[in-house]
Amino acid sequence: MTTGALTHESVLVIGASRGLGEAIVEEYTTRGAHVMGTARGAAPTLLHDFARRSDGQVEIEHVDIDDPTQLAALAERLAGRVFDLLFVVAGISLAPMNEIAADIADKDFGRMMQTNVLSVMRTVERLQHLVHPTGTIAVMSSGQGSVTNNTSGGFEVYRATKSALNQMMRSHAARHADERRALLLMAPGWVRTDLGGPKAALEVSEAIPPLIDTVEAQRGIPGLRYLDRHGDAVPW
Ligand SMILES: NC(=O)c1ccc[n+]([C@@H]2O[C@H](COP(=O)([O-])OP(=O)(O)OC[C@H]3O[C@@H](n4cnc5c(N)ncnc54)[C@H](OP(=O)(O)O)[C@@H]3O)[C@@H](O)[C@H]2O)c1
Repeated sequence: MTTGALTHESVLVIGASRGLGEAIVEEYTTRGAHVMGTARGAAPTLLHDFARRSDGQVEIEHVDIDDPTQLAALAERLAGRVFDLLFVVAGISLAPMNEIAADIADKDFGRMMQTNVLSVMRTVERLQHLVHPTGTIAVMSSGQGSVTNNTSGGFEVYRATKSALNQMMRSHAARHADERRALLLMAPGWVRTDLGGPKAALEVSEAIPPLIDTVEAQRGIPGLRYLDRHGDAVPW
């Protein structure tokens, strides 16, 4: 693991019950940050297990980002708190690789767009005031959100959600062009999680440390960037 000076000492991770979000909580905690992670319900999760072992360095909050009432309540509970980094990681994939528009159920298409695009952006809009004026707002996108790089197809709806998310972050960035925060769309690579599946190329332990190195290097550079875990720009 890389250990440099920590530029984000207080971190809020939305969607941290398992997978990449939980790993980001662990990585930042290990590097010495104070971290708050969110889970949807009160049921025990990997985040709860880790928080129990973390000697008070990890706080747990609860939010289902698909529920605007819960998002507003979270914003109210956190009023007055300041985080160096807000990282919105929550996301879903409901359609198998080969499912195309002709086949996908309307409700699955709607749920994916709802969670991966609308709810993620609502989270950014609702919680951005908690981020330090020179802090960072990161959102977990995907390399599959790149329109330019889509020469193979596959996961067509999931790709479309991440492209739409990227587009909405560009609009957000345009509205906040005079602010000093770093805005990041991150592409972690294909990682073995419940969402990534067992055939993914990378272990979580291979993807998250370089991804956090990249996020750490971006603090203080205003404006929006779409980056892979190594810090290289992903073509839009
Ligand atoms: N794994 C990959 O290869 C890969 C590659 C590129 C991008 N990504 C992106 O990385 C992010 C995390 O993916 P992952 O691989 O870690 O997936 P995962 O293991 O399935 O975890 C998804 C996380 O998102 C949370 N979540 C889903 N819907 C939510 C909602 N409505 N409100 C709050 N939390 C919600 C889940 O909470 P629950 O436990 O409550 O369901 C869980 O913590 C996603 O945005 C995904 O698109 C993943």
